[in-house]
Amino acid sequence: MNAITSASDERLVRVPLGERAYDILIGPGLIVRAGKEIAARLMGRRAAIITDENVAPLYLDALFASLHEAGIQPSKLVLPAGEKTKSFEHLMAVCDAVLTARVERNDAVIALGGGVIGDLAGFAAGIVRRGVRFVQVPTSLLSQVDSSVGGKTGINTHHGKNLVGVFHQPDLVLADTDVLNTLSEREFRAGYAEVAKYGLIDKPDFFAWLEANWKEVFSGGAARIEAIAASCQAKSDVVVADERENGPRALLNLGHTFGHALEAATAYDSRRLVHGEGVSIGMVLAHEFSSRLNLASPDDAKRVEAHLKMVGLPTRMGDIPGELPPVEVLMDAIAQDKKVKSGKLTFILTRGIGQSFVADDVPTSEVLSFLREKHPQ
Ligand SMILES: NC(=O)c1ccc[n+]([C@@H]2O[C@H](COP(=O)([O-])OP(=O)(O)OC[C@H]3O[C@@H](n4cnc5c(N)ncnc54)[C@H](O)[C@@H]3O)[C@@H](O)[C@H]2O)c1
Ligand SMILES: [Zn+2]
Repeated sequence: MNAITSASDERLVRVPLGERAYDILIGPGLIVRAGKEIAARLMGRRAAIITDENVAPLYLDALFASLHEAGIQPSKLVLPAGEKTKSFEHLMAVCDAVLTARVERNDAVIALGGGVIGDLAGFAAGIVRRGVRFVQVPTSLLSQVDSSVGGKTGINTHHGKNLVGVFHQPDLVLADTDVLNTLSEREFRAGYAEVAKYGLIDKPDFFAWLEANWKEVFSGGAARIEAIAASCQAKSDVVVADERENGPRALLNLGHTFGHALEAATAYDSRRLVHGEGVSIGMVLAHEFSSRLNLASPDDAKRVEAHLKMVGLPTRMGDIPGELPPVEVLMDAIAQDKKVKSGKLTFILTRGIGQSFVADDVPTSEVLSFLREKHPQ
């Protein structure tokens, strides 16, 4: 465990969404204090904790005890870990557990886990009784910097990722940075891809800061908390500008059109590829594709790849173990991705580091020939 425990290490990011405004607390020791923080903000006195089998043995007891102490009556549901848990079947199990726990509208569903648990539990919180309170206790770096903020919830279907879901903002996010010490290095790196994404979208200085400070972010301490807080602030800014993704929020999908296609192509098998790794490869592809379209310099793509490679992330389709399906199958997955509007491909492209933009008229033929060039087989 990290030694830093003083409250001065804590950061607060407020997401100012009017009636749906909420706080994100970032820092050490927050799970132990969760009951107090939740009781101070929510009226209800029941909570249904949803978590997964990896996180449960590590943090469930501490969260449970903290809620109890604050006078909140918790129940728990432990689900299998992994992307496949974002399914209709598990959604049903979560709704059932929430109703069995007699959670009412002022009570809360608490997601204790990574983005998988957050997306699934958030969806259930959004639809049970037409919406109950929702608290995110994100435990992976990815969920602390991205998925726990912004209110997108959902599950996957055989048609693709995140195709069924609702917008349902959390009432509170508690990002306990101590818990990142038990995350595997691979998962930490995957989350780091989303941190780097904020720099690449529109914060070139932040990207440069990461290039200089990534080792400290990985080793923990102040730089890590700083990077998480900066990421939450960046995400909050985008969400506040465009809560329901009618425009600029789509920038958060930088690297995701290619990334989601690769996730689908590897059947969401985390042994081969996890979300953040797909995003890492996808961001390099997005920069290379932009340079191919003469929008950005090839040097930018090289710089992005060099940094992601340096931290140990995959950057090429060929870095994914096992065979990939042919280009046509990847193209189908891209077309099925939700960022398609009336047949035209919407891509996040870039004019350089930190100069991303939404392009909603990208010709399919260009994408196809680019993929043919990049495909390893
Ligand atoms: N809603 C959004 O806006 C949004 C944004 C980005 C990503 N996502 C979604 O998030 C998901 C990916 O999230 P993820 O990367 O957190 O995946 P995840 O939830 O599968 O967590 C990764 C792995 O780490 C384990 N784990 C989590 N915290 C741990 C800890 N503290 N110690 C030890 N092990 C721990 C989990 O059990 C799991 O095995 C994807 O489904 C993606 O679509 C959603
Ligand atoms: Zn993502």
